Amino acid sequence: MKIIVVGTGFVGLPHAAVLSEYGHEVHAYDIDEARIKAYKSGERTRIERYVNEPGLAAAISENINRYLFFTTDISNVVEGLDAVFLCLNTPPNRDGSSDLSYYLNAAHHLADLLAKRQDKKRVVLVNKSTVPVGTARLLENIMREYGVENVGVAANPEFLAQGNAIEGSRRPDRIVLGADTEEDFQILRRVYSQFVNHVRIRYLETTPETAEAIKYMANTLLLTYISFWNGVGGRLAESYGNIRMEDLKIGVTSDSRISTWGSYVSNGAGGSCFGKDIQSLIYQLNQNGRSTDLLQAVYNINEYQKSYLVDRAIHEADFNFNQKTVALLGLAFKKRTNDMRDSAALKVVESLLARGVHSIRAYDPLAAEDAQTIWFNPEDNHLFGRISYHANAKEAIQGSDALFISTDWEEFRGLSRTIETTVQPPYLVIDGRRMLPDFDALVAQGYDYLPVGGVLLCGAQYQKQPANSQPSAKVVGETKPIA
Ligand SMILES: NC(=O)c1ccc[n+]([C@@H]2O[C@H](COP(=O)([O-])OP(=O)(O)OC[C@H]3O[C@@H](n4cnc5c(N)ncnc54)[C@H](O)[C@@H]3O)[C@@H](O)[C@H]2O)c1
Repeated sequence: MKIIVVGTGFVGLPHAAVLSEYGHEVHAYDIDEARIKAYKSGERTRIERYVNEPGLAAAISENINRYLFFTTDISNVVEGLDAVFLCLNTPPNRDGSSDLSYYLNAAHHLADLLAKRQDKKRVVLVNKSTVPVGTARLLENIMREYGVENVGVAANPEFLAQGNAIEGSRRPDRIVLGADTEEDFQILRRVYSQFVNHVRIRYLETTPETAEAIKYMANTLLLTYISFWNGVGGRLAESYGNIRMEDLKIGVTSDSRISTWGSYVSNGAGGSCFGKDIQSLIYQLNQNGRSTDLLQAVYNINEYQKSYLVDRAIHEADFNFNQKTVALLGLAFKKRTNDMRDSAALKVVESLLARGVHSIRAYDPLAAEDAQTIWFNPEDNHLFGRISYHANAKEAIQGSDALFISTDWEEFRGLSRTIETTVQPPYLVIDGRRMLPDFDALVAQGYDYLPVGGVLLCGAQYQKQPANSQPSAKVVGETKPIA
C-alpha cells in the first residue's frame, strides 16, 4: 500500500516506522524541516532529540529509503495513494476545547493536493489524532468543498502509551476503525492485514463517530482509575499510619472486576493526552447541554495532585520552602520518555517558585534539554534562573535542603544510598512516586520521609523512641489532614 503519514511526532513517527516494517511504502511528512532533516539522517541521537522511544531509531534505520521516506513536500507522492494517516497535534484551547488549527491546516493542504490528482484511485483519509466526535465528518466536508473525488474518511484512534510506542504499535490491544463504506474498510484491512483475524488483537469495525467516542471514553476512564486511587486510596493511607498502599492494591484488585492498571498513587498523571482529552470531552458534552460533574471532579483531583505534596510538606512537616534549595528528581511526565507535556514537574516547579524557594536543582535522564526550553524566559529570568540542571541525582542533591521525586525513573529506586552519602539530616525527602523501597532505613537515620499515599515519617521523632519500641518506622508518622 502507498501511504502518507502526516505529522511525525510521538504518534506519527512510530506509526510510520511500524507501517514500513510491514512492507508498505510510507511517506512520512511534516512541516518541521529540522525534524525531517534529523529523521533523514537516520542517526539515533538526532532522531531521539525529537521522539525518544525504545526501538524507534532502529526501526527507522532498517527501513529508511527502502519502505520509509521522510519529506516536507508531498505534492509528488499523491498519485497511486491508498491511505493517509493524520497524526497532527490537537492541543487544548483555553476553554478546554480542542485546538484543531494544525489538523485543519493539514486537511486543507491535503484537499488541495488530492483535488489535483491525475488518477482517481480510492483513497482513505484516516484520523489518528484524537479529535472531537464529528471531526471525520468535518474532514469529509472539506474534501467535498475542494471537489476531491473518490475519497473516504475514517477514524482510527491511537492507543499507544509513550515509552512503549514501538512495541505498542507492533502488538496493540485492539485496532478500532470507524468508516462509512465497505470499500474503505477493505482498504484499511489491507493496511492492517496482520491484525485482521488475529487471535489476540481485537479488530473492531464501527462508525467514525463511535471510534472517535471510544478514544475519549478510554482515556477518561484511565484517568478516572488514577484519580480514584489518588483521591481515595491515597487519602486513606495518608490519614492512617498503618495502611500499606501496596497491600491495599493487592487486596482491592484481586477481584477480576477491578482493574489493576491505574491502581497506584502518584503526584498526578501528566502527558499530552489525559488532561487535554478530558477537558475536550467536558467541552463536547457541555456543548450538548450534558452534565459533566464526574469528569470535572476527575480532572480537578488530578490537577490538584500534582502540587499536593508541596502543600503536605508545609502542613504536615512544617517545612518552610522560603529561601530553601530543593532537588527535583525527574522532569518528564513519566519514565522512559523525554516528553515534558503536562508533566507534574511543571506544577511542582510553579508551586515551589510561588513559595519563594532560593533554587531548584533539577535532574532528569532524558528531559533536561526540553525542560530548559520550557523554563527559559529572558523576561522572567529572576524566576526561571533559579533552576539549575545537573548531570545526575547525586549532583542535584548536593547542597539541597529537601528533595522531591516527581518521575518514576527506575534509577531512583536506589536513591536512599545517594541521599545518605550526600546530605545530612535534618532533610526532607518528598516522594511523589513511592520510589524508595528502603525508606525505613533512611528514617531510622533521621531523615524525614513524606510519601504520596503514606503518612509523614519523621526521622527525629523516630530516633527519640526507646530502641525497644521501634518496631517499624512505618508507625511513627503523625498526620494533620489538609484540604
Ligand atoms: N502522544 C501520545 O502518546 C498520544 C497517544 C494517543 C493519541 N495521541 C494523539 O495523537 C495526536 C498527535 O499527538 P503527538 O503526541 O504525536 O503530537 P506531536 O506534537 O508530537 O506531533 C505532531 C506533529 O505534527 C506536525 N505538524 C503540525 N502541523 C502540521 C502540518 N500542517 N502538516 C504536517 N505536519 C504538521 C508537527 O510538526 C509535529 O511534528 C494528538 O491528537 C494526540 O492527542 C497522542
